[in-house]
Amino acid sequence: MPADKAGIEYAAELLKSGEVVGIPTETVYGLGANAFDEQAVRKIFKAKGRPADNPLIVHVSSFDEISPLVREIPELAKKCAELFSPGPLTMIMPKSDRIPMVTSGGLDTVGIRIPYDKTARAVISACGFPIAAPSANLSGSPSPTTAQHVFMDMNGRIPLILDGGGCGVGVESTVISFEGEDGIRLLRPGFISVEDLKEVTDNILIDKGVLEMLGADARVSSPGMKYKHYAPKAEITILQGDSLAFNAYCSANSDKFDTLMAFDDSDCEGLDCKVLLLGSSGEEQAKRLFDTLRELDKIGAKRVFARCPELSGVGLAVYNRLLRAAAFMVIRL
Ligand code: TXA
Ligand code: MG
Repeated sequence: MPADKAGIEYAAELLKSGEVVGIPTETVYGLGANAFDEQAVRKIFKAKGRPADNPLIVHVSSFDEISPLVREIPELAKKCAELFSPGPLTMIMPKSDRIPMVTSGGLDTVGIRIPYDKTARAVISACGFPIAAPSANLSGSPSPTTAQHVFMDMNGRIPLILDGGGCGVGVESTVISFEGEDGIRLLRPGFISVEDLKEVTDNILIDKGVLEMLGADARVSSPGMKYKHYAPKAEITILQGDSLAFNAYCSANSDKFDTLMAFDDSDCEGLDCKVLLLGSSGEEQAKRLFDTLRELDKIGAKRVFARCPELSGVGLAVYNRLLRAAAFMVIRL
């Protein structure tokens, strides 16, 4: 249904009766249910095929709604909320008893986000309870940035998807936790960048899991890190270097059966491959990344060479997702 008044009312009705609904947010589409209702939350895990130990983000519509859900709001969290909420930022805090263990994946913390998207906020307000929502893809496939992507993965599994058009940001929220008086640990990069977070503190630690493949028995700070993600069927190799180096490598090593994921025309000039362009800025790349990964499966791509994004700003978020899609295959040119 379109995300108009009638759609939002129907979504709220379904959510109040313990159902799961596909909802747009500014980052990616979410698979929402009443965060307080264990049965409803179980339906999310079932629809996605998600491991029970991977916690869900809890979405509220204003800062005041956070305090009943947590034991404590760190001072730094208040500062972050002032600067970046509502928006694509998830803050991990110690959870209160109001949040069931099913929702937090058995952890004693909870990730809270106040989305900016007006449909998401309208749905939360109409329900009067917080909405637990992971990205609305099947576990292991790219996050959905359109209602059609959600339909592809969730047709027959959930009763309703609200269609709010394409997501403006295109990659999932930045996830952070707090350490000591003034420390922030980055668990997942997103549109709110490390540079943005530096406005709040200089003490920012980028968790190992953001840029490295973690061993099967590594202790992870965020359960999502240990699961395979965003993986299309094609074998992707990231080529780290400038446009000229990318072009030179591809002209020596690719053929017409290969696909290139590049940033602008000059990257691929004179190359006889299928080309998918992500755009120039980090923001454009973030917006198109997941649709492009789905496109790779649609066109049956087998071998893909991808230009490496900048490792700063939103680029770090694009790189983090691409690394997983490429099973950490990077060649430095
Ligand atoms: O932008 C987003 O964050 C989207 C939209 C729908 O809000 N949601 C989303 O949820 O991406 P999901 O479940 O696909 O990713 C949440 C990530 C997972 O990797 C999870 O492990 C981590 O956040 N996470 C959630 N709660 C956590 C917690 N209490 N401690 C550590 N990591 C947590
Ligand atoms: Mg996800």
